[in-house]
Amino acid sequence: MSIRDCIAIVLAAGEGTRMRSSLPKVLHAVAGRSLLAHVLRAVAESKVSATAVVVGPDQDAVAAEAERVVPGAQCFVQRERRGTAHAVLAARPALERKAQDILIVYGDTPLIRAETLNRLRAPLSAGAAVVVLGFRPADPSGYGRLVVDGGKLVAIREEADASEAEKAIGLCNGGIMALAGAHALAILDRIGDNNRKREFYLTDAVEIAREMKLAAAVVEAEEDDVRGINTKTQLAEAEAVLQQRLRKAALEAGVTMIAPETVYLSADTTFGKDVVIEPYVVFGDKVTVEDGAVIHAFSHLAGAHVGKKCSVGPFARLRPGTRLGEGARIGNFVETKEAAIAAGAKANHLSYIGDASVGANTNIGAGTITCNFDGAAKHRTTIGQEAFIGSNTALVAPVEIGDGAYVGSGSVITGNVPADALALGRARQVVKANWATRLRSLKSLGKKKG
Ligand code: UD1
Ligand code: CA
Repeated sequence: MSIRDCIAIVLAAGEGTRMRSSLPKVLHAVAGRSLLAHVLRAVAESKVSATAVVVGPDQDAVAAEAERVVPGAQCFVQRERRGTAHAVLAARPALERKAQDILIVYGDTPLIRAETLNRLRAPLSAGAAVVVLGFRPADPSGYGRLVVDGGKLVAIREEADASEAEKAIGLCNGGIMALAGAHALAILDRIGDNNRKREFYLTDAVEIAREMKLAAAVVEAEEDDVRGINTKTQLAEAEAVLQQRLRKAALEAGVTMIAPETVYLSADTTFGKDVVIEPYVVFGDKVTVEDGAVIHAFSHLAGAHVGKKCSVGPFARLRPGTRLGEGARIGNFVETKEAAIAAGAKANHLSYIGDASVGANTNIGAGTITCNFDGAAKHRTTIGQEAFIGSNTALVAPVEIGDGAYVGSGSVITGNVPADALALGRARQVVKANWATRLRSLKSLGKKKG
């Protein structure tokens, strides 16, 4: 089969009033990625030749997100919100390019998959002018109903305009549509606003195609593919579906999870072979975990790279910019940020390592803190390899600790420590013999007098 050229038009001009949020609807995230980004990724994966995004006025942030995910995506502004067909026509220059296929996707259906989009387009190459993605929701209320007669799709009826008999139809409009490029503009330009809401409904494309003696078809999908997000509840439901998909994919790729239902993943989390993830671990975005690493319970990772055979947690927090070399160990209550921790290095207990590099096989004692912030600016701490930082040390950045150096516990290190040196940055211990005995005898004297 030859690959047909296709322009995707993603509708994202809605305000999302029902989300009760100042953030435009399509910028809300599931699995660490905006709704719009999920849709754009699925569209890109389905090998379209160009992508257009329709945004509302004053939605520069939506246009910026589109550009970030699909560099070169063309954004069009729908000045007034007058319905889904009106929104598609805001991208008229894209329609005028007469691609063979036009794919119309809503920006608030983050669970759509590329394979579903490809199935939707298939009837176009067999001559259909309009293809609608149908599904059978548990509760059809709110959706447009697909009116089928003699096996042929004849109309889509919006709920507000549906008769009782039409409302009883279980097959609904998922909202995603494919149009033959040769007829798309002619069909769209004939859509009027003669309905309850006085909107230009994209769904009227079906009846108009029939009037033009063109064929309309339905392709069925699972409810999850077309779940539209209008509320925070639906956002949470979509998150749950996506987490299930991500966990399943991770398990199938060979990750061991003791309690997968307690592990939260991001759409871009990547794992090597023989990775073990204990219960209650949260992966924010941009995390990669290499072969043989173990992430112990109750750890939180984001923007971190975990090297081969590393051990992280329990109760560790790896923040963005963390890079762990092979076999590094980050233990309980250790927080890292912008920290390169080389192979075999260890920070096993109660530490903050930020804006730092730690050389291979260095040991960071319990309670070590890199004091990276002086109240105005951030500074770096550089620790060489095979070094030993004693417990409860404050490393006041900017500071460098050389290879093989030792820092005594309880130190406050404010100056560089050369390689192989010992630095003791604390007050010398004072011992006063029998001091407590004298104190006690003074106390008993006082009591007798009183
Ligand atoms: C739409 C369909 C309905 C279908 C349902 C599936 C129409 C008329 N109805 O209804 O048949 O069952 O989706 O979820 O198409 N948008 C714009 N500009 C506008 C209007 C909408 O960009 O002027 C965008 C919205 O941001 C949203 C999408 O189009 O991403 C769908 O709009 P929405 O108002 O949610 O349509 P529904 O009433 O859900
Ligand atoms: Ca909707």
